[in-house]
Amino acid sequence: MKKNHIILNDNEIDISKSDPNSSLLDWIRLEKQLHGTKEGCAEGDCGACSILLSPVNGGKLRPANSCLLKLGQVVGSSVYTVEGLGSKKLPSPIQNTLTKYGGSQCGFCTPGFVIAITSLLNHKEKPTEMDIHDALAGNLCRCTGYRSIVEAIKKIDGDIHLPECSKWSKCMNSKSETASFFYPVSVEEAYELSYKNDNTFYLSGGTDLNLIEISPSIKPNYILLNRIPSLNTIYEKNNEIHIGASVTLEDTLPYFEKFFPPFAEIIRRFGSSQIRSQATIAGNLCTASPIGDTAPSLMALGASVEIFSNKKFKYLAVEDLFTDYRKTVLNPNDIITSIIIPLPENEKFYYAWKVSKRHDQDISTTSIGALVNINKNKVIQSCRICFGGLSSTPLRNRKLEDTLIGKDINFAMDEAERVTKKTIKPLSDLRGSSDYRADLAVGLVKRLLLSLSNQKLNLEVTRVQ
Ligand SMILES: Cc1cc2nc3c(=O)[nH]c(=O)nc-3n(C[C@H](O)[C@H](O)[C@H](O)COP(=O)(O)OP(=O)(O)OC[C@H]3O[C@@H](n4cnc5c(N)ncnc54)[C@H](O)[C@@H]3O)c2cc1C
Ligand code: FES
Ligand code: FES
Repeated sequence: MKKNHIILNDNEIDISKSDPNSSLLDWIRLEKQLHGTKEGCAEGDCGACSILLSPVNGGKLRPANSCLLKLGQVVGSSVYTVEGLGSKKLPSPIQNTLTKYGGSQCGFCTPGFVIAITSLLNHKEKPTEMDIHDALAGNLCRCTGYRSIVEAIKKIDGDIHLPECSKWSKCMNSKSETASFFYPVSVEEAYELSYKNDNTFYLSGGTDLNLIEISPSIKPNYILLNRIPSLNTIYEKNNEIHIGASVTLEDTLPYFEKFFPPFAEIIRRFGSSQIRSQATIAGNLCTASPIGDTAPSLMALGASVEIFSNKKFKYLAVEDLFTDYRKTVLNPNDIITSIIIPLPENEKFYYAWKVSKRHDQDISTTSIGALVNINKNKVIQSCRICFGGLSSTPLRNRKLEDTLIGKDINFAMDEAERVTKKTIKPLSDLRGSSDYRADLAVGLVKRLLLSLSNQKLNLEVTRVQ
């Protein structure tokens, strides 16, 4: 087997002597001395550190935040920094157009924008206004103003297509003084590694785990899950969608757009394109955050998870996964291997909304996922109504459901408001006070009833059309 390497800007680089525990950003800037990639927030929020990364199974490059990736995570991949896309002597059409039409002032953010725009145009030749705004949601510019950047993008003329990449090559386990990285290729192997070693951490996209400070007294053993082929598949079977635990949010989008459009809208507003290209649903569920964006929608749809535990597979409803604030029923070595979502029957209405402080690149303050069946007389026959941000765990509100079953949707508003208020104990934090969240919950329930009574009502106020 070859030494561990990365293809950086089309050159194969031996990384067997580099620290796999350093961030990809530090490796690019400090070791490779490529200073186009910038460090702004170091938390995935500003996009200054954006690079293009090949997907594990190969294909079109995706944007990623290099500050959130460990070097050991991307062994065997292809990475492009802004230097690989154009130079002073030979700028890319994107760099030329941003310069010509005032899309850059101080220039600190510009390499990150060039990466995000390259990815957008490499995937879509003629992006809509909405595509452009979605693609830029993870890039912060403090001085130019987005209008001139968006207008410049519309004027870009030239071939932006980059060659498709091969799948990541095989690699050897790597270690440094501060951490070890293991690359299992089967679920059984991953479980065994976790069982036999101390201080193990399963690593999927790393968009949550890589932000957590691990005590320097611990030498973490990272077990990477995204090279296990069986975890990288997504398919429809027997009226269910099966999503492998390592499938990125970006790769779930075509399925959600087809089968659960409101869920697709939640995913489109999940972090940024850079985050969605790495983050997974399994990782989101395992953080057990009460404001995690996927749990309320999955619970409403009656989704379950497949878990590899004690050397065998078992199944659990997502609503039974959470026990307390950031705690799940999973044992330390358990692996979520897939998420299974049943397709709702035709007569059921599914809605999901997220309320956050900003429209883009922000986790929910409060969210709702609801699946409701009403008869032709507008009487609710069955429903599942689930919330994020209203208690220490994602919450299925069975009392509200029991209240609504048998009610005419046009006369249920007052009772729904009363029961919603009575049955929730929202948390207070920087995103919102308990009272504010309670008001949001009532507003979301009202929106649900209004939407059920008139499916053509457009209550969306912020989306770029
Ligand atoms: C800038 C930014 C924006 C964000 N925006 C949002 C947002 O809008 N909405 C939102 O909900 N979250 C958001 N997040 C949080 C984060 O991106 C999500 O929670 C994401 O889904 C985590 O997935 P991951 O694959 O990166 O998990 P990782 O970071 O790899 O793992 C998270 C945890 O899950 C464990 N784990 C991962 N996979 C498995 C598995 N298969 N089996 C067992 N354990 C596993 C890991 O050991 C770790 O404890 C954001 C984060 C950042 C940095
Ligand atoms: S430095 Fe801000 S997203 Fe990475
Ligand atoms: S050009 Fe200065 S921050 Fe964007």
